[in-house]
Amino acid sequence: MKTYPICALRGATTVQENTESEILSATAELVEVMLKKNGIKPEEVISVLFSCTKDLDAVYPAVALRDKGLELGGAAVMCFADMDVAGSLPLCIRAVIYAQSQLSQDALFHVYLREAERLRPDRARRSIAIDGPAGAGKSTVARDVAGRLGFVYVDTGAMYRAAALYGIENGYNLDDLGDIEKFIGAVKLRLERGEDGGQRVLLDGRDVTGRLREAAVAEGSSKVAVCRRVREAMVLLQREAAARNNVVMDGRDIGTVVLPCADLKIYLRASAETRARRRFDEEREKGGAPVFDRILEDIRERDLRDSAREHSPLRQAEGAVVLDTDGLSREEAAERVIELWNARGN
Ligand code: DC
Repeated sequence: MKTYPICALRGATTVQENTESEILSATAELVEVMLKKNGIKPEEVISVLFSCTKDLDAVYPAVALRDKGLELGGAAVMCFADMDVAGSLPLCIRAVIYAQSQLSQDALFHVYLREAERLRPDRARRSIAIDGPAGAGKSTVARDVAGRLGFVYVDTGAMYRAAALYGIENGYNLDDLGDIEKFIGAVKLRLERGEDGGQRVLLDGRDVTGRLREAAVAEGSSKVAVCRRVREAMVLLQREAAARNNVVMDGRDIGTVVLPCADLKIYLRASAETRARRRFDEEREKGGAPVFDRILEDIRERDLRDSAREHSPLRQAEGAVVLDTDGLSREEAAERVIELWNARGN
């Protein structure tokens, strides 16, 4: 039988009154966010322990799990009464969930909702997810917003690019999924913060950031990104980064898969023509001799590959705010994101 590592997740929430409906809805929300934030499926849960402060006795919080199929799915569940400790938060439900997970214990999202957020301010992590197609301006906007908010910018596309670079350097065929699966386990990626606040990508300890924009690497990145095993490995690293820092993370699946509970989700879009025009201008500024139709064709090809793939295709996340950047400069787009962030009252 296959065995998996086990993690222990913690969480807490509060209610305003000792009523059955409040306890059940607060518990359901708590468990849902704990699982979602850590990418844990209900069938991976082994056991759930709840403890309630003594002022709560209208119903066992465990009853809320039935709707999620956890209890019926075989998880062992138990409720306890908490100790009365002077000054402790009233009307509070605490939970520990034991589950199978590849996440290391120090990279878990422990979850503190409602008044319980005050219990662990050190655990409060903020995140902004920015998704969209190639060339929509995600990285400029994300870097700008991260700089202004003092968050860490995580460019997830660079991680797929680094995986592609590894494959290219080591002579693998990126058109062959079997070949990609052969090398992905050997890719040792680390993300670091550069002196300029930007992200540096280390491959086996070597800084490869400067090579990630090469045309062959860009093309290879969308090929490795279709591979499920590559995606699983990257998502783990991305969640770890978000569990340790306040982040602005950009990519294709951030709001849908990596951080489905992000505090703010943005979907940046722009027409293929606008995106091709931006890339054309960039290349001309760098002294190149770009061909517009060729760039447009490349963009369309990558769009198709990114949105038609089976695993985590590019799509707008539930609850995402769509920002159309056709008529906006990148500075204006960043400003809109900041406005949306401030409007949330963070
Ligand atoms: O954003 P970018 O151009 O640097 O991304 C490189 C490739 O990686 C792109 O083809 C899409 C893919 N990607 C992805 O599948 N999921 C992400 N979260 C980020 C990028």
